[in-house]
Amino acid sequence: MMLRCVDLRVRLGDREVVRGVDLEVEAGSWVTIIGPNGAGKTTLLRALLDLVGASGHREVAGRNLAEIDGRERARLMALVPQIPEMPPAMRVTDYLLLGRTPHLGMLGVESAEDLAIVGDVLAQLDLEQLADRPLAQISGGERQRAVIGRALVQQVQLLFLDEPTSALDLGHQQDVLELIESLRHEHGLTIISTMHDLNLAGDFADRLVLLADGRVEATGSPETVLDPAVLGATFGTAVDVIEHEGRMVVLPRRSER
Ligand SMILES: Nc1ncnc2c1ncn2[C@@H]1O[C@H](COP(=O)(O)OP(=O)(O)O)[C@@H](O)[C@H]1O
Ligand SMILES: [Mg+2]
Repeated sequence: MMLRCVDLRVRLGDREVVRGVDLEVEAGSWVTIIGPNGAGKTTLLRALLDLVGASGHREVAGRNLAEIDGRERARLMALVPQIPEMPPAMRVTDYLLLGRTPHLGMLGVESAEDLAIVGDVLAQLDLEQLADRPLAQISGGERQRAVIGRALVQQVQLLFLDEPTSALDLGHQQDVLELIESLRHEHGLTIISTMHDLNLAGDFADRLVLLADGRVEATGSPETVLDPAVLGATFGTAVDVIEHEGRMVVLPRRSER
């Protein structure tokens, strides 16, 4: 088991936003959290990474998260945030190099190997042409790919992605998710993501977790969770689910006009 939490709870202000979540994620699997706006998806990811105060038990790679220090955590797991903070004047290459920080030696200087890893990821993400460009001068989708790149060069075992494709066009959406899928198969990476697009969620995850109002409403294979009755009740709109060549397609019904 790569990650486990029991009765995870997060209180923000006077509201409990994550309300008793139990989760088990097998090593090498891809779990995607879906659910309406405000369901607590981002907060749940942040709680799993210990970026927000939470109660409950958390375990990573069989060890209590509380016993793993910061540097080791950064070599075990990385987050691609939904709204990243990016220094506007920093060049794309230097931004990716930040992801190597937990691997640098005592002097904190990057080696030829670090630069080579960054170069490979820039190429994989179709960012080579932009390597020397300041972050302020690239598009939203290019920035989103740079954030993913920074997490990939970190070479972790557990990768968290918070709506990683929301700013990407159709082609880059597919490319980025397929790249992550191939890294998962080559290196046994474990992925925990949140996703807005239910079709992409069903296409790439082994298991979906449907979160509503801070609680797990349903969990299981995409075929089980992408159920018209379950989705209709949770998202408050009627949907049809059709199967096309072994993939699930979710179609919201049009209201009567
Ligand atoms: N700092 C905060 N204080 C109080 N409430 C918050 C804070 N941050 C987020 N929330 C609320 O917590 C709920 C869950 O937010 P979030 O985890 O971002 O949901 P999701 O990612 O599923 O859209 C929302 O209702 C949001 O308004
Ligand atoms: Mg969110």
